[in-house]
Amino acid sequence: AEIVIVPDPATAGALVADEIARLIRGNPDAVLGLATGSTPVPVYEALPVRLADVDVSRVRGFALDEYVGLDPAHPESYRSVITREVVEPLGLDPARIAVPNGAATGIEHAGEDYEAAIEAAGGIDLQLLGIGTDGHIGFNEPGSSFASRTRVKTLTAQTRQDNARFFDGIQDVPRHCITQGLGTILRARHLVLLAFGAGKAAAVAAAVEGPLSAFVPASAIQLHPHATVILDEAAASDLR
Ligand code: F6R
Repeated sequence: AEIVIVPDPATAGALVADEIARLIRGNPDAVLGLATGSTPVPVYEALPVRLADVDVSRVRGFALDEYVGLDPAHPESYRSVITREVVEPLGLDPARIAVPNGAATGIEHAGEDYEAAIEAAGGIDLQLLGIGTDGHIGFNEPGSSFASRTRVKTLTAQTRQDNARFFDGIQDVPRHCITQGLGTILRARHLVLLAFGAGKAAAVAAAVEGPLSAFVPASAIQLHPHATVILDEAAASDLR
């Protein structure tokens, strides 16, 4: 992967937003892979000004993951987060932005339906990724197969702890999720993994410099021909 170290998250956000704006200018039908959580926020904040004079009416998007068993109307469902942080501020067509279906009914088909929808859109052009402190990308927790496709997974205790800040407490964090697989993510044409802060340093080093391992799911990006990793100094501090 190409490693870029920037002074702060805002600089990373500006770099990636420039790249996304260039992509959409060149291809108004561009397909974006959207991450949630704290990491992509600087990208989403930098985008509106850069897309102000760009036609985004045909842009499509696919979220990486969703909680299972959380009402889609819950403010922390990833459907709600994507609507609030991406669709509304950028003026995207909500019908063109997909989030895996974590609702109870139809969950057994949700994974293959999502894969088919990505396929029908022609695949993802640029996939944004954060990284979990346990080395996950999407919600592909340690032990995930590199060939995995969109499916239901159990969140690790570490991930539920890490995400408790978005809820009233860990007891309210769902136990399951539906996530694009590592195999799904690897099919995107460009991967852009962002990480900020010392808490991500060990996971970043294991992902980028460690051996390929299902126990460090993010190490799968080493298999990708076009992966960009953008870090602040703290997240880069365990690199050799
Ligand atoms: C979110 C996702 C996760 C997060 C990761 C880091 O859609 O798939 O892999 O990117 O858990 O979360 P933050 O950015 O909140 O530190």
